[in-house]
Amino acid sequence: NSILLLNGPNLNRLGKREPGIYGSETLENVEAKLQNILKAYNVNIDSFQSNHEGELIDKIHQADDNYMGIIFNPGAYTHTSIALRDAISSIDVPVVEVHISNVHARESFRHHSLLAAVCEGQIVGLGTKGYELAAEYFASKIQER
Ligand code: DQA
Repeated sequence: NSILLLNGPNLNRLGKREPGIYGSETLENVEAKLQNILKAYNVNIDSFQSNHEGELIDKIHQADDNYMGIIFNPGAYTHTSIALRDAISSIDVPVVEVHISNVHARESFRHHSLLAAVCEGQIVGLGTKGYELAAEYFASKIQER
């Protein structure tokens, strides 16, 4: 029973990066919160962040058979990467796409996700709380089994 938290480009700078848009919480804080939530359900969480598209693709491939779900904030690759979409399509593990900011209230180039259609669902605009809600979703799915 393991979940993968996957974060794409520039999310290593969470907390320092445009705090007016993304808040002041760091990625380490988010990881700790998720660990805490999932502990109660006996679910393990691994975390991986990369600024490199190919590394994210490799991690998605490796996730097949090893995780029951992926919480994925693909950063700007959301709006550009057919390769990440194909990687998600190539595995059986369900992916929940998370965006901290409300991308629909921002520049029009952020309005479209190339990945959303191959994800199980999407959580947008609820701040870093979105990661926690995604974790609770997967935990509840595990409990139903
Ligand atoms: C983001 C939204 C993207 O448009 C942006 O490029 C990011 C972060 C979010 O979490 O709100 O890097 O995915």
